[in-house]
Amino acid sequence: SNFVSRKNSMGVNFSNDNELKALAEAVNAKSTQWAAGPLVPGGEGKGPTVQVTNPADRRQAVGSYVSADAALVDKALANAVAAQPAWDRLPAASRAAILEHAAEQLEARRGEFIALCVREAGKSLPDSIAEIREAADFLRYYAAMARRLFGHPEQLPGPTGENNQLFLNGRGVFVCISPWNFPLAIFLGQISAALAAGNSVIAKPAEQTTLIGHAAVKLLHEAGVPVDVLQYLPGDGAVVGAALTKDPRVAGVAFTGSTETAWAINRALAARNAQIAALIAETGGQNAMIADSSALPEQIVKDVIASAFQSAGQRCSAARILFVQEDIADKVVGMLAGAMAELKVGDPGQLSTDVGPVIDNDALKILTDHAARMDKEAKKIADAKLDPSATSNGTFFAPRAYEIASLDVLKREIFGPVLHVIRWKGSELPQVVEQINRTGYGLTLGVHSRIDDTVEYIRSHARVGNCYVNRNQIGAVVGVQPFGGESLSGTGPKAGGPHYLLRFATERTLTINT
Ligand code: NAD
Ligand code: ALA
Repeated sequence: SNFVSRKNSMGVNFSNDNELKALAEAVNAKSTQWAAGPLVPGGEGKGPTVQVTNPADRRQAVGSYVSADAALVDKALANAVAAQPAWDRLPAASRAAILEHAAEQLEARRGEFIALCVREAGKSLPDSIAEIREAADFLRYYAAMARRLFGHPEQLPGPTGENNQLFLNGRGVFVCISPWNFPLAIFLGQISAALAAGNSVIAKPAEQTTLIGHAAVKLLHEAGVPVDVLQYLPGDGAVVGAALTKDPRVAGVAFTGSTETAWAINRALAARNAQIAALIAETGGQNAMIADSSALPEQIVKDVIASAFQSAGQRCSAARILFVQEDIADKVVGMLAGAMAELKVGDPGQLSTDVGPVIDNDALKILTDHAARMDKEAKKIADAKLDPSATSNGTFFAPRAYEIASLDVLKREIFGPVLHVIRWKGSELPQVVEQINRTGYGLTLGVHSRIDDTVEYIRSHARVGNCYVNRNQIGAVVGVQPFGGESLSGTGPKAGGPHYLLRFATERTLTINT
């Protein structure tokens, strides 16, 4: 079986006053400042220093980081090549124990990491708590998988007098490039998988969340990962990321981010005429929810609100389109408008907040431009209100919903709290699924129906990685809902799933004529 025995992380107990008080103090200590920079032993040469401010209030400094430059990229690669063989030769159980120790330390220090997620990434408190839990789960899951897959060679059959074994080893130097929207969970997920499999790692965080990445790498060093086995290179994707992915010393890249960047990395790796690198790319989505008239409108609205607007819609898994069967459409739209009007947009550090800021001005501009186009071309059916006293100094965007005629209106992934609603007739299910497949993306799909044949039709025709029925479509749990899409949404294998580590490994057979 693919099941590994392991417990998922517990999070914060809100009924325990002491836990809640400690958390509130950590998050609200606004004078705390963080500093970050490259972690490259013996490295010299550094790029510009960048100031970091809070997305919820740009007047608040959070810290600063120093970027890497091309000289550091070269030094980091030389270190990583030299350090990898000894790390790979360690017993898998020793690597796993270090990762498990890091998970414990992460939970013990979660106040600091939650504060960082709130203040650098603008994540709401529940999202920040979930982020720490997911990161700890990844560390423990890949540790357990490494013990099982890499702990001993697989014995293979053969004729009498011949002993055949299959070994798994690290590939070499892995570059891990991650997005800002899961600055700890995806960042540590990629890194821990690559390390568990015996690779050395160079971690390139998103520009927007370098302080979190720095603290996470330090935590792994303190837990026992040698400093040349895991190095940290914050900096611009087009400079540091591009320099790393064109280098022939790189054996593999784990990337999560936009589909466009995945194409750029794929081209850079292919142009090297060097070792054929492994690329694991987890990218964007154009995710839909299909609701038919057998579903409960209250349940649809509750789940669409969570799927479209939690994390300010900044999840690759988020619902962007609700296909609602026309018999219940008026009722659902009416309830949706009522529920959206109640959403509280504001300070992500307050438990009463539903929707925090979007990550930066660029994201805000894309959303504002999209809304301006939709205001002309579609019908606005619902929105939330912004309270200027709570939002005017941050990058906030009020959730809204538009009714559109077909999916063809949307040309690209809209990464924020905008929902698009399309009505469909009972006989049109094949056309609805066909429209979704035609986007070329294949990440998540929500279904609300109590008709088994409908669910089975969608399951067997929709080309998506994660399909959720009669619930929301976000928040995949490590080892429970392995996560990742297909086609424009990524290469697989799924993060938090039983096959993920294998892609970070190379296979070697040994045949002994005894
Ligand atoms: P992005 O593609 O702009 O950036 C991701 C990372 O790539 C960053 O670290 C960036 O610095 C780096 N980068 C940029 N250009 C590069 C280049 N030429 N070479 C190498 N690296 C480069 O994405 P983002 O805006 O940070 O994240 C949002 C996107 O991520 C959305 O499309 C979202 O759907 C996707 N996402 C996908 C998943 C998933 O699991 N499928 C999870 C989270 C986010
Ligand atoms: N794994 C994240 C989710 O499922 C992206 O929402």
